Amino acid sequence: MNITFKKAEILKEHPEDSTLGFGTIFTDYMFNMDYSPETGWHKARIEPYGPIAMDPATMVLHYGQAIFEGLKAYRTDSGDVQLFRPKDNLKRLNKSGHMLCMPELDEAFLLKALKELIKVEKSWVPAATGTSLYIRPTIIATDPYIGLRSSNTYRLFIILSPVGAYYPEGFNPVKIWVTTEYVRAVRGGVGEAKTAGNYAASLYATELAHKDGYTQVMWLDGVELKYVEEVGSMNIFFVIGDELITPALNRSILAGVTRDSVIKLAGSWGLKVVERKISIDEIYAAHATGELKEVFGSGTAAVISPVGNIKYNGKEIIINNGQVGQLAAKLFHHLMDIQYGRANDEFNWIEPLQ
Ligand code: COI
Repeated sequence: MNITFKKAEILKEHPEDSTLGFGTIFTDYMFNMDYSPETGWHKARIEPYGPIAMDPATMVLHYGQAIFEGLKAYRTDSGDVQLFRPKDNLKRLNKSGHMLCMPELDEAFLLKALKELIKVEKSWVPAATGTSLYIRPTIIATDPYIGLRSSNTYRLFIILSPVGAYYPEGFNPVKIWVTTEYVRAVRGGVGEAKTAGNYAASLYATELAHKDGYTQVMWLDGVELKYVEEVGSMNIFFVIGDELITPALNRSILAGVTRDSVIKLAGSWGLKVVERKISIDEIYAAHATGELKEVFGSGTAAVISPVGNIKYNGKEIIINNGQVGQLAAKLFHHLMDIQYGRANDEFNWIEPLQ
């Protein structure tokens, strides 16, 4: 399939790297492609970034049939641009699409489209350490119909946003609030899909956490409200004794690409990495005996985010004296070194733009 290009009349001003936060600035162009049962995926095009006009009955607006991905492009010290594990994100996009009854995508074509778009927008990839170009591929259901079924037509779009740190805290410990009343996902649901509804379901409890002075919610399993699943927009890791433990993928947890990178990196450093069920009671017990050394989250947007405080059932524990842990810091710096091309890419995670 050909990718057509339409030139923008006016180009936006680029922000200073030092002013970048997360998710408010978008580049000049976007990629669009449509799906219909008759033509399959068609009309691949790079065109000026702009609004999507929609019939008010468009299905995504009513039933949330939407999936997305988050990945990043980095500028190396020599000025080149490279992507981190894009094939894994595109594979997960297809997996989410399958769960949301969407048509399959040609991952190799989408990677090509993504690279074409970033080549056009190369000047938007910031250079300062800690900054990157966040890439948001999204698919939405576009039939104008308000009966409940899966849509026949879809729009795929990719937008780009130069970003800095996700949390206002930067690379400093965040405060986590464990909810015993709300759940993000349950067994048999769509928790492992990157779908809009999972994020909508997280908003109410997150507001409550904010009101209590906490940054993010820690979700427990939706059946027994006992086992840790994930945290806000991240997967979660615990250092207990000499083990690095993360909840096993149980079909309601998102299989994070950064989660997988942490598991592989830490394993290659000789650490014992364990994926298993871990209850919130076990975490509190490990804290009481002094065995809980570190807690940190992982995610594309957040990278590695140390956790300084956890509050559960009204009782707060402070982890590692509220300081950034050694392992979190090592992982954060090493991951960034790989992403910016400063460390050996021993796992072949880097995808050059060319
Ligand atoms: C990401 O980490 O890329 C995500 O998609 C999480 C989102 C809430 C920013």
